[in-house]
Amino acid sequence: MAAKIKVIVSGALGKMGLETVRAVHQDRDLELVGLLDMRGGQGDLGIELGDGLSLPVLIDLGQALAADPDVMIDFTNPQSVFTNTQTALAQGINCVVGTTGLSESQMTQLDELARQKGVGVAVIPNFAIGAVLMMKLAGEVARYLPDVEIIEMHHDQKIDAPSGTSIKTAEIINAARSRVPQRKSQEIEKIPGARGGELNGIKIHSVRLPGFIAHQEVIFGGVGQSLRIRHDSYDRVGFMPGVVMTVKKIVDLKGLVYGLENLL
Ligand SMILES: NC(=O)c1ccc[n+]([C@@H]2O[C@H](COP(=O)([O-])OP(=O)(O)OC[C@H]3O[C@@H](n4cnc5c(N)ncnc54)[C@H](O)[C@@H]3O)[C@@H](O)[C@H]2O)c1
Repeated sequence: MAAKIKVIVSGALGKMGLETVRAVHQDRDLELVGLLDMRGGQGDLGIELGDGLSLPVLIDLGQALAADPDVMIDFTNPQSVFTNTQTALAQGINCVVGTTGLSESQMTQLDELARQKGVGVAVIPNFAIGAVLMMKLAGEVARYLPDVEIIEMHHDQKIDAPSGTSIKTAEIINAARSRVPQRKSQEIEKIPGARGGELNGIKIHSVRLPGFIAHQEVIFGGVGQSLRIRHDSYDRVGFMPGVVMTVKKIVDLKGLVYGLENLL
């Protein structure tokens, strides 16, 4: 029998982290060897894994990496993700990054470091297969209908805006469309930001409300018609097949993989 892939989860006490801990623990090919969260260490925090098994939640990355994992999964926040990933890669540990907010130049640096160390780093803005298909379809439609705006909707605890998925969608649309539509009229924003943010000439609008998880609508406009592509994540469990698949694939890759579609 092949050896199990040893995994640590960073951000283990967070909404995505807790779901990931469960998914990794339940997978027969993966072995959870450490948990990390800056909220750990307050009291006797640990996570119950069932069958009387529990793992302590460490607050020190160095201590968590000492468990000699093959892969670190990061679901922390935009302020921590770069340093965490850099530290793990520098020790020759493959990384799966679900946290959004990494800049292009940071991803280039992580790519170089991973190649130097002979390991892989997967940066995946969205682990839901439906969201990946939404992006793919958006690229296809943009070839014919280049006028497009994006509305992304998330829970009100989300720190960064716009979402990593909306940025990736705008990049895919921009690469696919043959022309960037020119605005027909001079616009006046009576409230600053009313027309949303803009990337590559594509407006992105961010909604933050309680009750939401992760949702996105890509709206194409044509002469006398419109087309909408919408994806909804109703439960974080929907991200887990993508997370587990990425962990299993990244151990055989070197350098950066950006986006789940490049692993399918
Ligand atoms: N890629 C995807 O499919 C996907 C899906 C949902 C959310 N996300 C992203 O994942 C990230 C986490 O989302 P969430 O909803 O779980 O957030 P959350 O706030 O519930 O959890 C983040 C956790 O990280 C911990 N943390 C922060 N800094 C840390 C550090 N330096 N070291 C260790 N732990 C640290 C926090 O204490 C917290 O428990 C966000 O960036 C979010 O946008 C990605």
